Amino acid sequence: MSLTIALSKGRLLTGAEALFSKGGLPFPPLDTRQLIVEVGGLRFLFVKDMDVPVYVEHGVADLGVCGSDVFQETGSDVLVPLDLGYGRCRMVLAAPTSSGFAESWPTTLRVATKYANVARVYFEARGLAAEIVKLQGSVEIAPGLGLADCIVDMVETGRTLRENGLEVVDEITTTSARLVVNRASDHIKRAEVAALLFKLRHGKDGASS
Ligand code: PRP
Repeated sequence: MSLTIALSKGRLLTGAEALFSKGGLPFPPLDTRQLIVEVGGLRFLFVKDMDVPVYVEHGVADLGVCGSDVFQETGSDVLVPLDLGYGRCRMVLAAPTSSGFAESWPTTLRVATKYANVARVYFEARGLAAEIVKLQGSVEIAPGLGLADCIVDMVETGRTLRENGLEVVDEITTTSARLVVNRASDHIKRAEVAALLFKLRHGKDGASS
C-alpha cells in the first residue's frame, strides 16, 4: 500500500517541500506541470487549494497539506492531526482606509470574499445582515470598484491590503498549514500514515520537536 498526498501549488508548497525534505521524504519537483507525480513510493496530486480537503475527504488522497482557512471554508470531514507550523496568516475583515467602517459598521453590508462560509458565520454571529459576493481571488479590488463595502480575506504581510487602499477592521481567525488525513486511511493504512506523520513531526532522525 502506498500513500497519495494532495498538495496545492500556492503559498504553502515550498514550506511543504522543506518539511518533507527534513523528514527524508520524497517530494515532487516544484517546476513540474504534471498534476499526478509518483516519486519514491509516494503519489502526489496537485490540485487547487480549496480542493485539497475535498480529495482527502473522498479518499482519493490519503493525506493533504492545506491552510486551516481552507477546511474551515469547505467544512470537509477530515482528520487534522498536525499543525505543520508554517504558513501563518490572519483571516480578516478589511475595508477601505478612512471609510469610517471601523468606527461605525453599516447595518447591512456587501462583502466580497473567497471564504463565503467563514464570512457568513462571522456576520451571523454578530447579528449583521451581510450579502456575500463570492469571488475566486483578487478580492481587494472589489470595494474600490463598488462591488462590495468590505472584504473577508487572508493577510500575510499586509502588503496587498495596503497597496489597494484597505485596512484591517477585525481579525476573524489565525490560520496555518495543516496536514489533513482521510478517516478511513487513518485506519486502513495506519502504519504508513503514522510513519509519515512521525517524520514530518520529528524529522528523519527523530531529532526535532
Ligand atoms: C492571498 C490573499 C491576499 C494576499 C495577502 O492571496 O488572498 O490577496 O495573499 O498576502 P499579503 O498580506 O502578504 O499581501 P493569494 O496570493 O494566496 O491568492 P488568491 O488571490 O488566489 O487568494
